[in-house]
Amino acid sequence: MDIRLLRSSDLPLIQHANLENLPENYFLKYYLYHALSWPQLSFVAVDVARPKKTPYDYPKIVGYVLAKMEEDPADGVQHGHITSLSVMRTHRRLGIAEKLMRQSQLAMVETFGAMYVSLHVRVSNQAAIHLYKDTLGFQNEKTESKYYADGEDAYSMRLDLSTIREQVQEQAEAESDGVDEGDAVGDVGSDPDKKKKANGSAKTEKKKVKMGRGLGVGELVEKDESKQGA
Ligand SMILES: CC(C)(COP(=O)(O)OP(=O)(O)OC[C@H]1O[C@@H](n2cnc3c(N)ncnc32)[C@H](O)[C@@H]1OP(=O)(O)O)[C@@H](O)C(=O)NCCC(=O)NCCS
Repeated sequence: MDIRLLRSSDLPLIQHANLENLPENYFLKYYLYHALSWPQLSFVAVDVARPKKTPYDYPKIVGYVLAKMEEDPADGVQHGHITSLSVMRTHRRLGIAEKLMRQSQLAMVETFGAMYVSLHVRVSNQAAIHLYKDTLGFQNEKTESKYYADGEDAYSMRLDLSTIREQVQEQAEAESDGVDEGDAVGDVGSDPDKKKKANGSAKTEKKKVKMGRGLGVGELVEKDESKQGA
């Protein structure tokens, strides 16, 4: 299984997976809007074990997370939002949704400095509630009455991303501490004798090499071998 960033060419397959798995469906342009506006945040799970019959075969996408940054946050705090998540029935309970969610959360922090991530989930969706609350640590903020078109309530959940922010910062600091800046570039200010010693000899031997016309055009002219005597 390969978890990779969503590509625009994946969008019809994502839309298909969404129609298979969820009652909340969107126009293709809404997927495209996500892919173009926040290309770092949405991921797909691809079944790479499936043999390709032709080079033009579509990838077998078995899960996706469609995510965005909240454009005009009511609380003024920069945060991400999970628009849609689903995994095909054939590939559930393998940890795919967890991986997709974690990748997106990391990208929200690394790319946009998100403080938290929010989402809505149906109050009856036990599988998703387990994933969000128990596996990923989301907190239930409030219940939104009749949030869904069929009248079902939604839990509005959020996950504080400060732990990921700290990890990202620690990693960045560790990487900058260990940076090898290499040798000084250029000869400005360097000791010329020291350089000669380092090269092994003070004199550099010059060698003449033939180039271009020096090779002799005559060598290249076709010879009329018929005139050569036997
Ligand atoms: C919800 C959904 C995305 C989970 O995908 P998944 O790849 O099977 O989830 P994972 O394998 O990553 O499992 C994550 C956790 O959820 C648990 N889980 C998964 N399915 C479960 C189920 N049906 N009932 C209870 N727990 C479940 C797993 O055991 C795991 O828990 P653990 O960390 O304690 O071991 C998937 O069931 C799905 O696509 N459902 C239909 C679409 C949907 O409801 N999307 C969410 C909309 S908000």
